[in-house]
Amino acid sequence: MVISRRFQIGGVYTPTLIEVWRSGPYLHDGSAISVREVLTSRNRDNKHGRTTHLTPQQIDDLVEYVLSL
Ligand code: HEM
Repeated sequence: MVISRRFQIGGVYTPTLIEVWRSGPYLHDGSAISVREVLTSRNRDNKHGRTTHLTPQQIDDLVEYVLSL
């Protein structure tokens, strides 16, 4: 991904989510195989947006939305 299309937060570049469906594995170290993992197993402490309070249906909807971008 092209650096100039990213914004930097602290020491980590935030990649655009446009066409993120084709750019996995995710996160700076590729530790999330899917977008769902970015929002669930790799975000248990809510540091990357508040997601732990979401219902399974809401996670499904959010994943579907992100993958549609
Ligand atoms: C629930 C809302 C959010 C969604 C759906 C979301 C989605 C995503 C996804 C799918 C990625 C992985 C992109 C990739 O690796 O190509 C990502 C990475 C990232 N997001 Fe978010 N995000 C959310 C909230 C936030 C918030 C609130 C922040 C800042 C406070 C943030 C900052 C970042 C950063 C810094 C990365 C890169 C992390 C890394 O490479 O390890 N995101 N986001």
